[in-house]
Amino acid sequence: MTPARSVTVALTGASGMAYGLRLLECLVKSGVRVSLLYTQAAHVVAKQELDLVLPPRATDAERYFGERYGAQPGQLRAYGREDWFSPVASGSNPNDAMVICPCTMGTLASLAAGMSDNLIERAADVTMKERRTLVIVPREAPFSVVHLENMLRLARAGVVILPANPGFYHRPTQVEAIIDFIVARILDHIGVPHELMARWGRGEAGAAS
Ligand SMILES: Cc1cc2nc3c(=O)[nH]c(=O)nc-3n(C[C@H](O)[C@H](O)[C@H](O)COP(=O)(O)O)c2cc1C
Repeated sequence: MTPARSVTVALTGASGMAYGLRLLECLVKSGVRVSLLYTQAAHVVAKQELDLVLPPRATDAERYFGERYGAQPGQLRAYGREDWFSPVASGSNPNDAMVICPCTMGTLASLAAGMSDNLIERAADVTMKERRTLVIVPREAPFSVVHLENMLRLARAGVVILPANPGFYHRPTQVEAIIDFIVARILDHIGVPHELMARWGRGEAGAAS
């Protein structure tokens, strides 16, 4: 797989904001160009789960996350909910992959219906129509028939459904190791090298797949 050099990351209002932020950190530190998008509900969840106030304006988000993760100038771009002039709104821009993490059942349903009602939905729709890699990290428990049908529909369209569903065979003792389990799988699916976890079957202690 060719490593992704340009990735769109969307944070929505599902539980598990720490997965999305860790993903953002790993991508920036790997030198990947990142386009960052988030929903209104993501603000609420970030505050609730991490006591983090997501900057309401895209320019502030670029500055805040750029400084937090040590991004190079121009490496991290953020876009607003209806920034239809942003590169991610069009298939004419080369973008290797998109990850929606965490992904709500609401955003999942909109994607399955092809809504394109905000920039996240549009960017995901573009990613699908251009046959690029789209990974979504849905979080809900239990899943209803509607959720499952929506996921099946997207999986049939080539979307990688990677639920926030960590394994425990690597014997995590800290929440960071649980988060990294999921982030490692996401990075594998978009071809970004990482050393977040030992790989199963390579003889390392506590290895996992
Ligand atoms: C603290 C908190 C946790 C939530 N967790 C989930 C969740 O795990 N999955 C989900 O589908 N919705 C969850 N929701 C509800 C969504 O945020 C809500 O449906 C919202 O409208 C989704 O909008 P979005 O898809 O534009 O982000 C949560 C809401 C809050 C406040």
